[in-house]
Amino acid sequence: MPESKSFNFWDDHYARGGTSGDGSVGEHREWKWSVVKQYTVQVDDVVDVACGDLSFWAGRDCMRYTGIDISSTIIERNRKIHPRWQFILANAADPQQAKGRIVFCFDLLFHIMDDNIYTGILQNLTQYSAEWIFIFTWKKNHLTYWKTRVREGYIHLRKLQPLKAARILWGTTTDYRYQTYRDFNQYVPLFESAGFDLHAVHDDSPNPWGARYVFRKRT
Ligand SMILES: C[S@@+](CC[C@H](N)C(=O)[O-])C[C@H]1O[C@@H](n2cnc3c(N)ncnc32)[C@H](O)[C@@H]1O
Repeated sequence: MPESKSFNFWDDHYARGGTSGDGSVGEHREWKWSVVKQYTVQVDDVVDVACGDLSFWAGRDCMRYTGIDISSTIIERNRKIHPRWQFILANAADPQQAKGRIVFCFDLLFHIMDDNIYTGILQNLTQYSAEWIFIFTWKKNHLTYWKTRVREGYIHLRKLQPLKAARILWGTTTDYRYQTYRDFNQYVPLFESAGFDLHAVHDDSPNPWGARYVFRKRT
């Protein structure tokens, strides 16, 4: 899917009242914060790539915060909620003048359809971070889960796209809409060549399909 369609997907989603999803609230949010806090007590200097609706930040402040997102609807809304925080409307693959001790990239990577955009985003994460990079993404292919296959297959059948529906029902790495699975481990060398080591992988998330990858800059 071209990334312009991805832009439309998310901006339409937020304009229709959609949220950043279950991964940013409840037990998922608590688990994600507990992992971050194991490594850095002060979360005061953050670049948040694909920041979404900030439900992840509910009840928390940050001394120096930069949020980047592709949806103008959500960026405008965030600017009103947090006038002191900086927000950048951009595709995360386009390099920005952003720097933080900590970089977050949560629940974005499995939404990236294009391989070049994907690697562009990873490279930018390494450019923005002065010390830590925290990533939450799929460790396993969620599109093999039967409920997901049935739901996505049905969506394509209704759109009169039987071939895509059949592929999804059979089990693929993309839903042709807004989710694509890649083996994240294959991208660890990209971080290593940019000076970051994989410090830890936390795969005890309440979401059985995802894991938290923690990178630290080599000193
Ligand atoms: C599932 S939400 C996650 C939001 C937030 N990181 C969180 O965990 O609460 C995915 C976000 O990625 C944004 N997004 C999708 N593709 C993007 C891209 N190429 N560049 C920047 N943001 C993107 C969407 O607008 C959406 O806000």
